[in-house]
Amino acid sequence: MQIKFYQEKEQVPLEMHKVRVVQKLFLLPVEERLQRIKEAGNNTFLLQNRDIYLDMLTDSGVNAMSDLQLAASMRADDSYAGSETFVRVKEAVKEVFGTENVLPAHQGRACENILASALVKPGQTALMNFHFTTTKAHITRMGGTVEELVAEKGLKPQSNDPFKGDFDLKKLRATIKEKGAENIAFVRVEAGTNLIGGQPVSLENMLAVTDICHDNNIISVLDASLLQDNIYFMKTREARCKYMDLKTIYHLLADHFDIIYFSARKLGFAKGGIITSKNEKFTKMMVEYIPLYEGFLTYGGMDVRSMEAMAQGLYESLDMEYISQGPEFINYLAKELNDYGVPVILPAGGLGCHLNAGAFVPDMPHNQYPAAAVAAALYIISGIRGMERGTLSEQRNPDGTEPYAELELMRLAVPRRVYTLSQLKYVADRVKWLWDNRELIGGLEWVEEPSVLRFFSGRLKEIGFWQEQLVEKFRQDFGESL
Ligand code: F0G
Repeated sequence: MQIKFYQEKEQVPLEMHKVRVVQKLFLLPVEERLQRIKEAGNNTFLLQNRDIYLDMLTDSGVNAMSDLQLAASMRADDSYAGSETFVRVKEAVKEVFGTENVLPAHQGRACENILASALVKPGQTALMNFHFTTTKAHITRMGGTVEELVAEKGLKPQSNDPFKGDFDLKKLRATIKEKGAENIAFVRVEAGTNLIGGQPVSLENMLAVTDICHDNNIISVLDASLLQDNIYFMKTREARCKYMDLKTIYHLLADHFDIIYFSARKLGFAKGGIITSKNEKFTKMMVEYIPLYEGFLTYGGMDVRSMEAMAQGLYESLDMEYISQGPEFINYLAKELNDYGVPVILPAGGLGCHLNAGAFVPDMPHNQYPAAAVAAALYIISGIRGMERGTLSEQRNPDGTEPYAELELMRLAVPRRVYTLSQLKYVADRVKWLWDNRELIGGLEWVEEPSVLRFFSGRLKEIGFWQEQLVEKFRQDFGESL
């Protein structure tokens, strides 16, 4: 919420909640942090939480729950089949999306597994504004391919375009024509497009995509995992949405998309996953996979307490004061950094502030993983854990060659309702120092490279002794400070 401050220069985002449960954090000395990142194979996924001061790896499953979510989780109805908890989940989905057909799954990628299993035939292509790692992995597992049709503006690191996640509609029409509708498994719109910096898609663009799908008899799918941020941006950046209430926007989307799925680790401030549709025809295509892969149709692999928390969290995703906190804090951090000259993705998106790592180390080749090197460097000098979102997060082509990411990003996710403004000020301070000392950052090379989703568990080592030099410079500048 933008509450106007008396002194304009003090203007900061103001939380419309208070913290009533706290967790102790630890900040190790820089020399120990150096050891920990080496032990983790320079992969921030392999760090232990006890060695981390601010965990900005992801916004997934680490959002703060509200008092009402905690209370709701206590009344969970633990039965294998026909639980009251699932009735409440369905009521919440109905309230938010206006849909009655609801399939539960244990998280977002489980929804993607089911979607791909039911809808992708070998040789078919799924068209999307941009891929997400797990989405692509499931589609290729079924013998399909992914084609990205994000508008050119989406790959420009800095601009003032409000909707960089938009589809290139011309390209979408042309690709359908060229491939033939029968060779397209579905068209997927990713709200709050993750890998290009949490960039939103406009309502106008989403509806145009569904119209094109409808005209061509192609199934349209909305990945709504990051929809709450996307809806915040629709409300604040798109004229036609300004006076629409949030529920109207969610319902409009559900009226137009054939299938909506989401990770409730993001949408809903909880855990779990949901596939939903206005039309029973679509959920029927997928229903048989739920008991096979997930669990019975009234829990789908989720724990009932999480389901109750999700249901309450979904109601909260209709509350502008709750959904604005993430984007406004991210915007604050991105602005602080940009004003200093640090290259960040602009405009700020949802889910996190994204450093343009490619611009941090412009001479480093993609196959030394610039974004992973920046992530390792930042952990060493701050105890902050970010995530590589660049070439390392790509999967190799079937012939073993490596596709280089269009954008080498280092993501600093801002879990919703979790961190305070002073913590974000610390983040900004340390990132600025790293920017001023960026010539010390060196590259990484593989020690162990897994063949699937390699960024999760792959191990790398630093090329040369740049990390020791970074620690030395830290000590010079910060003295005894942690
Ligand atoms: N779709 C989007 C847009 C996502 O951001 C994610 C997860 C998924 C699907 C998969 O959901 O994790 O519940 O299986 N994104 C996480 C992240 C992993 O860190 O960005 P999941």
